[in-house]
Amino acid sequence: MVSYKEIGLTTTADLYVKAIKGKYAVPGYNFNNMEQLQAIIQACIETKSPVILQVSSGARKYANQTLLRHMAKGAMEIIKEAGSNIQVALHLDHGDTYELCVSCIETGFSSVMIDGSAHKFDDNVILTKKVVEFAHKHGVSVEGELGVLAGIEDEVSHEATHYTKPEEVEEFVKRTGVDSLAISIGTSHGAYKFKLKPGESVPPLRFDILEEVERRIPGFPIVLHGASSVMPEYVAMINKYGGKMDNAVGVPEDQLRRAARSAVCKINIDSDGRLAMTAKIRQVFAEKPGEFDPRKYLGPARDELIKMYKYKNINVLGSANQS
Ligand code: G3H
Ligand code: 13P
Ligand code: ZN
Repeated sequence: MVSYKEIGLTTTADLYVKAIKGKYAVPGYNFNNMEQLQAIIQACIETKSPVILQVSSGARKYANQTLLRHMAKGAMEIIKEAGSNIQVALHLDHGDTYELCVSCIETGFSSVMIDGSAHKFDDNVILTKKVVEFAHKHGVSVEGELGVLAGIEDEVSHEATHYTKPEEVEEFVKRTGVDSLAISIGTSHGAYKFKLKPGESVPPLRFDILEEVERRIPGFPIVLHGASSVMPEYVAMINKYGGKMDNAVGVPEDQLRRAARSAVCKINIDSDGRLAMTAKIRQVFAEKPGEFDPRKYLGPARDELIKMYKYKNINVLGSANQS
């Protein structure tokens, strides 16, 4: 058993206490490779932002779970060496089984998500409660989910959005004992969040649902998944340098800023990182077709990621200078 405390990690529950009071959201950034992790850490050190490092089960399969957690451990040492004391949580994103959550808790994660949103309400409660009971014995935080986002959640695809029913949240939180709750108010995973007809603009998120949830469980930490804004400059760069991403569109930044000032304590961003990295790599390949040293294209991609994460912390989440 490796405790997150030995690694110097913080729980998400602890991060949310400050985020609620300070009216900002902590970034939940996914990583599955070295350059992403380096960029996240560098950007959060430079902006003095707390951060939640997220590992999905897809990331565990891709990069090897042991390597990923040791990378997170290394990141903690780098933060110390830089003389920074930003708070960091290591979080399992979209855990789908009790066993996976237990494995993460036993190997140093400070927070896990058990995503029972595809199950019926009562089955979701039973599964989530079981994870909470184990996690809380070890001082680890748990995120649950009610409502289903359209799109792809770690290899599970959902065709339609099922908004969270506010009338279910009190019972869910009470019966499960979760520390935070992911809700569905119109965001979705990936780079194609809305199907727009020509001339149409992105529909607003369902702030009415969010407000009703806040009214029913005041001060309880809410999480927004699928919150990349699918930054148009990166989509344009990808298309300019040989890619093809037609109609990629995300959540407008002003809506995310509004959410971050509410009970939303964590905003999950993965796709924007993928886009920034892809855009920069495509640019290098297009402009320097003879380049074959990975450091010469992954390095610029990492610099672009640092810029993007800093921008998010400062302008979208409000998490800069909060750690
Ligand atoms: O919500 C899903 C995250 O973006 C993780 O994606 O399962 O492809 O690693 P992944
Ligand atoms: P995006 O696909 O919008 O970046 O969402 C990421 C996410 O929710 C990770 O859990
Ligand atoms: Zn998600």
